[in-house]
Amino acid sequence: MHALIVASTRPEVIKLSPIMRELDSRNIAYTFTTTGQHYDDELFWNFIRELGLRRPEYNVEVGSGSHAYQTARALEALEEIILKEKPSVVIAEGDTNSVLSAALACAKLHVAFAHVEAGLRSFDRTMPEEVNRVLADHASDVLFAPTEKAALNLINEGILPEKIFIVGNTIVDATLQNFEIARQSSRILEEMPEDFLLLTLHRAENVDRKERLTGIIEALLELGEEVVFPAHPRTQRRLADFGLLEKVEKKLRILPPVGYLDFLMLLSRAKLVLTDSGGVQEEAIVLHTPCITLRTSTERPETVEAGGNVLAGVEKAGIVRTVKRILGDQNVYQAMKAAENPFGKGDSAKKIVDILLKLEEEGKLKITPPSRVLREKRREFINVDASLAGKRIAELPFQVVRVIEAGKAKFPSPELRLRQGQMIEVLKED
Ligand code: UD1
Ligand code: UDP
Repeated sequence: MHALIVASTRPEVIKLSPIMRELDSRNIAYTFTTTGQHYDDELFWNFIRELGLRRPEYNVEVGSGSHAYQTARALEALEEIILKEKPSVVIAEGDTNSVLSAALACAKLHVAFAHVEAGLRSFDRTMPEEVNRVLADHASDVLFAPTEKAALNLINEGILPEKIFIVGNTIVDATLQNFEIARQSSRILEEMPEDFLLLTLHRAENVDRKERLTGIIEALLELGEEVVFPAHPRTQRRLADFGLLEKVEKKLRILPPVGYLDFLMLLSRAKLVLTDSGGVQEEAIVLHTPCITLRTSTERPETVEAGGNVLAGVEKAGIVRTVKRILGDQNVYQAMKAAENPFGKGDSAKKIVDILLKLEEEGKLKITPPSRVLREKRREFINVDASLAGKRIAELPFQVVRVIEAGKAKFPSPELRLRQGQMIEVLKED
């Protein structure tokens, strides 16, 4: 297998690093490409060094710009790289413009595209990331969903279960692989107060709007707690544009973006984290730090259902109320701390590499046109009776897209055994 890995922003480097490590440990060759969407030391190169990754062989140097510019420029450049490298699979993670470009380039060239962190949905199409993830998922050949919920989102959009694999999230691998290293090497806590809240903000819909950013900052000021705030360059710029920087510098401990190891230490020590980041919501529950998400939706609802994350919205009053409620009630606070991470045990990268090798062995990474005339498929619902009960999904002579049990949908994993009382939704050709 020759994989081409596209990792172009801070979270992609972090979340793909366990896969690169896994490939290295098995001596499987891969090519590493960045589109250059993140290019500064503090958002990209520092992470390559800290995570012990090699420098990318290709850097398209797209840089900053409009969504159309970044996507189009990366699409063109990735096409050239894919044609030259002829990978058996391209692997990318998440929902940035770079990921959409990689997925599209592959779909047009008939090269297998594997999407890590597939099936996340905030159901808010005004978020650029939501559009990127939906489109990338639909252009993918192999979809690595972190949870059953994410897999069911894909099924609901008509993606076939045979392309979907539930593997957990590589953020757990990354956190577990790096936390001990961070404890030994990071000195950042020496400069921090004993007791603090951690804040990260970078979502366009929060920081590019003056009213919204002002409300969030005012909420933090009103709380009167120590706040440590490593600020994304986008946010730093907006704070300055909106005349908020002076106030923030006076009252909050604003820092440039910190390295990954320092961030893990800040997150593990913080009383709670307030964030609009995706990855931070996941890491918080892994490290047992209560999380308050400064958004009106989340594509990580598993963290809320597990009890480790609360959606506080983006209005000043709601944020203040939520923080006070959590900090003012030890029962609520301790329950949030105790929440269990729903994203797996930290073996996602191993599962992903195992699955890709198996697919390659079975010839399933080759994207070829169908050799027979295709017909429209019919959906049917079948009650599981005695003749079907006990059978595994993989043994059935028709394609199951959903198992329904007590009114709830389940993902039709090949190993799942049917039980009487269930219903299955199947696709049949006439
Ligand atoms: C991007 C992703 C977002 C992801 C985030 C991770 C999209 C649409 N957005 O948002 O989903 O959560 O990365 O951090 O793909 N900048 C620098 N240095 C850099 C890179 C950017 O200063 O190395 C500044 C530039 O002013 C740029 C701004 O940050 O205009 C935004 O960068 P961009 O990559 O467009 O979006 P992010 O907000 O980083
Ligand atoms: N992170 C970091 N330093 C910081 C802020 C975040 O190392 O100052 C890491 C954090 O550990 C997480 C990732 O960056 O793994 C999240 O990236 P970001 O919030 O930029 O993107 P998102 O996850 O929202 O796409």
